Amino acid sequence: MKFFVDTAMIDEIRELESTGLLDGVTTNPSLIKQSGRPFEEVLKEICKATKGPVSAEVVAVDHQTMLLEARQLATIAPNIAIKVPMTVDGLKTCKVLRDEGVMVNVTLCFSATQALLAAKVGASFISPFVGRLDDVSQDGMALIADIRLIYDNYGFETEILVASVRHPAHVLEAARIGADIATVPAAVLRKLFLHPLTDKGLKAFLRDWKASGNRILS
Ligand code: G3P
Repeated sequence: MKFFVDTAMIDEIRELESTGLLDGVTTNPSLIKQSGRPFEEVLKEICKATKGPVSAEVVAVDHQTMLLEARQLATIAPNIAIKVPMTVDGLKTCKVLRDEGVMVNVTLCFSATQALLAAKVGASFISPFVGRLDDVSQDGMALIADIRLIYDNYGFETEILVASVRHPAHVLEAARIGADIATVPAAVLRKLFLHPLTDKGLKAFLRDWKASGNRILS
């Protein structure tokens, strides 16, 4: 399973990249706003900081303007993946970009039939928003399971990129279902390292080692 980080904060990306666990980055207009920086400058830095795909989102809603924006964004770096919304115009744009060899992430997916359409136009990634479905009392993870089943039925190569991840249990369930990728806020990624028994066990080992008087390094 691949881990992307869902942020436009360059320090968080560099910190996670240094762990060797990061496979890519996703941004969106809200995350760019949170960074408080000009989008092009931020995206250039992010694309240098990671080798994996970096999602950058168009903001036009009509196909022709989306295409112009996408082609402009794609010049930033070879690892840019263009994020288009799950709309008719978004999917038309996806098809053209895929034919041109550009990676595309179809975002704002909330149903399995939307995911089916995105796969049919060759999306590289589909982003179902599990947290936002949970927020309205729908089962976000049931959607991931449905998409996995449908994609496997037909051998679609579109990668399931679980988005709107709010806690480690979302990551665990996504892995159980066999989602390809989870894009996770940095704070949630950090939580995946933690277990109180790890801390307790390490403390005891260090105490006993000190008491034994041994040293590894002379
Ligand atoms: O990048 C899209 C997505 O991950 C948004 O998450 O928490 O705003 O629903 P959230």
